Amino acid sequence: MSVPERNGTILELSDVVKHFGGVAAVAGAELDVRRGSITALIGPNGAGKTTLFNIVSGFYKPERGVISFEGERIDRKPPHAIAQRGLVRTFQITKALTKMSVLENMMLAAPHQPGEQLWRLVFTPRSARAREREVHEKAHELLKLVRLDRLAGDYAGTLSGGQRKLLEFGRALMRDPTMIMLDEPMAGVNPSLGLELLDHMKRLQDERGTTFLLIEHDMEVVMNVSERVIVMNEGRVISAGPPDEVRRDQAVIDAYLGTGRGAGEPSAPAEETPPSEGDTA
Ligand SMILES: Nc1ncnc2c1ncn2[C@@H]1O[C@H](COP(=O)(O)OP(=O)(O)OP(=O)(O)O)[C@@H](O)[C@H]1O
Ligand SMILES: [Mg+2]
Repeated sequence: MSVPERNGTILELSDVVKHFGGVAAVAGAELDVRRGSITALIGPNGAGKTTLFNIVSGFYKPERGVISFEGERIDRKPPHAIAQRGLVRTFQITKALTKMSVLENMMLAAPHQPGEQLWRLVFTPRSARAREREVHEKAHELLKLVRLDRLAGDYAGTLSGGQRKLLEFGRALMRDPTMIMLDEPMAGVNPSLGLELLDHMKRLQDERGTTFLLIEHDMEVVMNVSERVIVMNEGRVISAGPPDEVRRDQAVIDAYLGTGRGAGEPSAPAEETPPSEGDTA
């Protein structure tokens, strides 16, 4: 497979706005991600990072702004159309189907699932079965990669939080994505597996030119893995650049101090559901 040219812009956001009631969760965000890069998106709790992922992946419609992926506008497209273009995401709170096996979860993540078209099994059994076998093999290979192969037959509901994160990563890879957005992929994953996950990312970046945008609170991980860091605060991008520069940026230091927590502190994942009235009062 030919490796696509690096360094061009693959994802570009300009003036993206999204409110929840009176809260401007994303308030005119501007950013770009370079093709083939591992870019970290950081910022204090409530900065708007997850909301931004939800917008880019089509789960929320922005009220304003333009989002382009590989030179084409995606800001009015539904999630499946965006995933089909090769831009996939994982969730801060994992969405594994708990009543299905780990393997089934993987197979369902493949595009053009043969099971969706039952008539094909009747009229073109050979090609459908060949396709199913292909998906099955790929699922197994990827489960090995994320070290869940021994749990392939177990219900996804029995996995630990960390294992579900790995399953999410595996599911994302089933689509052979051009770009993956990962929302706190290391949260709850045991440290040695977390390091392996980072190695996989680097390898995919190397071998396939896959682009990664990852939300991460652990600054050591950020400094280690990413060549570029984008910092959000209060719905806006306040800084972007190489990790060393960003770390010394006074606006970034102020943003973290303003919340009373250090940049290196991990945060408890927030629910992706509306907060109760009391939370915002
Ligand atoms: N579905 C929602 N309904 C109402 N308000 C929301 C919703 N999702 C997010 N918010 C609010 O929007 C703001 C941004 O939240 P978001 O989850 O995007 O932050 P974040 O940067 O991902 O934070 P964290 O690091 O804690 O995950 C917060 O004030 C949050 O309370
Ligand atoms: Mg978040």
